Amino acid sequence: MNTTPKQFAVIGHPVNHSLSPHIHLLFAGQFNIPLNYDRLDIEREELLSQLEQFKSQRFSGLNVTLPLKHDAYLLCQSLSDKAKLTESVNTISIRDNQLFGDTTDGIGLIRDLISKGVKLKNTRSLLVGAGGAANAVMADLIKGRPSTLYLTNRTIEKSMLMESHWSDFAKNHSVTLKVADINDREQGPYDVIINATSAGFTSELSPLPDGVISNNTICYDMIYGRETPFIRQAIEHKATWHDGLGMLIEQAAESFRIWHDKTPDTSTIKGDLALLKLI
Ligand code: ATR
Repeated sequence: MNTTPKQFAVIGHPVNHSLSPHIHLLFAGQFNIPLNYDRLDIEREELLSQLEQFKSQRFSGLNVTLPLKHDAYLLCQSLSDKAKLTESVNTISIRDNQLFGDTTDGIGLIRDLISKGVKLKNTRSLLVGAGGAANAVMADLIKGRPSTLYLTNRTIEKSMLMESHWSDFAKNHSVTLKVADINDREQGPYDVIINATSAGFTSELSPLPDGVISNNTICYDMIYGRETPFIRQAIEHKATWHDGLGMLIEQAAESFRIWHDKTPDTSTIKGDLALLKLI
């Protein structure tokens, strides 16, 4: 049996606080799989040359985080159907000197919602944001079959572009897709609101208008580890809220399955990270 550890890394910018190495090593421990997993800070301009180096250094796989997911999609030699649809890659497998791109963000979100008992089916759900993070989860959100999926964004034209990109896929799944005028009180409150903006990392999110969140709304922020302006608003409205730590763990589990053909137990990981004082 070959016990030379396979080499993996998460790449992005910034990446120094990424929990991915810890999560993948915890998963690997469940199956006694020897592996190395690095964190490598890479900027967009260097991605192409770095990917060539990873091939020659015999890396087996890469997780890709902000702001490289769309560039990675453009640079992979082969893509899963979902990576093609979302134009986003967060998981690269390197085999025979070729890069195979896939995306596990959507599955990560949906599995976390399911584990928290959040149902999308037949809901009126709102997705806030229209960048890479929002588009990456659209296929799986639509497959969750909300009756209507509303899209909104600070730059509303980007929501309109998203609506036209996803309209056929939504129709094929009997989901109504609409750009939301969230200032229209008739439309709120929503059953589920997912924040896929980067606000809270670098800047403040302008508060959602009154009437959008009620105490029956489930609020989910894809950002984890900090109280974002969106989560503060959820708390003010006594809504149920969740941050994106569970999504991070679940998307990592799906990447792990793609690379190692083994499905890790995710239920213990949050506790393990807490014991390691990482969260
Ligand atoms: P990502 O890959 O994280 O989605 P992105 O493609 O740069 O990164 O998109 C960032 C998203 O966060 C966008 O929807 C952006 O809104 P704009 O399209 O109007 O720029 C949103 N965003 C970032 N800062 C925001 C803020 N302060 N208020 C509201 N939305 C914000």
